[in-house]
Amino acid sequence: MKNPPKRVLVAGGNGVTGKLIVRYLTGFKLPVQVDIAARTALRAQNLPEQVRKIDIDFQNKKATSALFRQYDIIILAIGPFDIFKASLHEICVSEQKICIDINDSYEAASEIYKLKKDAEHHQSMILTGMGLAPGLTTLLLLEVLQQNNETAQSGGVRMFFSNGINSGKASIYTMLINFISHVFILSNGKAYKTLSKKIEKDAYYTFNESLKHKPLIYYSSPEIQTLPLNKDCSRIRQLDFAFHLEGMPMNIIPFLRGLKIFRKTIIKFLCKSTYKKQKKQQSGQPVETLVIASAFGQFDNCIKHCQVSSKSSYELTALTASLVAEMVLKGEIVETNGVHSIESDIISKPILKTRFEREGIKINPEIVNQS
Ligand SMILES: NC(=O)c1ccc[n+]([C@@H]2O[C@H](COP(=O)([O-])OP(=O)(O)OC[C@H]3O[C@@H](n4cnc5c(N)ncnc54)[C@H](OP(=O)(O)O)[C@@H]3O)[C@@H](O)[C@H]2O)c1
Repeated sequence: MKNPPKRVLVAGGNGVTGKLIVRYLTGFKLPVQVDIAARTALRAQNLPEQVRKIDIDFQNKKATSALFRQYDIIILAIGPFDIFKASLHEICVSEQKICIDINDSYEAASEIYKLKKDAEHHQSMILTGMGLAPGLTTLLLLEVLQQNNETAQSGGVRMFFSNGINSGKASIYTMLINFISHVFILSNGKAYKTLSKKIEKDAYYTFNESLKHKPLIYYSSPEIQTLPLNKDCSRIRQLDFAFHLEGMPMNIIPFLRGLKIFRKTIIKFLCKSTYKKQKKQQSGQPVETLVIASAFGQFDNCIKHCQVSSKSSYELTALTASLVAEMVLKGEIVETNGVHSIESDIISKPILKTRFEREGIKINPEIVNQS
């Protein structure tokens, strides 16, 4: 007798990233039933016909547990993770489910990793940070570090966010709320807190010939909590994470980082107005393929870098989560209880890279010699 199709729930499946995850997962033609759930899921449009839509408020624990119980895999594409933290992961653990998230919040990551023992005990597997950053950027970084046995003096992850695409409300909130006075970097394998304005001063990055000398905004990546556990990470002295946000006036960054009074209210207002402005500006405009993420290591005589291009960072986030889900569904990630990030040995990097290639995303490190 054939096994019944696995049931996958995309929590937040009507959001910008969630919709793309549904599109990828249904497009992979796996024997799987994909459904979505959110507060306004029933209003979602342009989803494949077979996708069931469920309205639910994930703040309601009892209803969420009852819903999660009906599925094999829960993909968390909800947000902001800064608000949910590990609350939905906890429910996945108590319901003994496989959970895949696209968390990008440093604070939420700390809470999610605290569930490690509970997840092992309750027989639940949490795959966390399976988006663009962390996720694909971590893979790029590991590629750079695995290329030779030298120690890199410094390295980093750089992302380019074009203003040509529509962002999700939760993503805009996450970005704005994380403009604070300090960031964490990795220094000799340990998280090191530093003043944002100190490292941001005169920090620029050239992605390629057409994206030169772009001013950077630094952030604390959840990777800072997981990379020190990876043996290759000991071969880099200092590692930091930054992005360029096209169209963002750089002089507003110190204001946002210093904001204390009415912080949440001001951020919520800015979030709403940015979302509305984006919607007005971009509808119908053609979108270019651009470098989105780049990881690099500065070695004694050369720089190694590895970068990926796409039309949208959301596509890359959704693709990463969907490929990881595909590997779970095909038994290529063996169910291992606990909390795992992309660096974990349970995720085969060669298989993951082949899958990205199948989808047109090449992960090829390049070496630039310096004389
Ligand atoms: N790792 C990465 O590289 C990466 C990249 C992009 C985004 N992200 C993160 O992924 C998350 C989603 O981003 P997005 O841009 O796709 O956001 P979005 O479009 O705003 O989607 C958020 C989703 O969460 C749902 N939701 C929010 N509160 C809910 C609640 N109480 N109950 C039920 N559903 C709820 C929303 O639906 P309703 O409003 O209908 O409830 C919506 O479906 C964000 O936290 C973002 O920071 C990570």
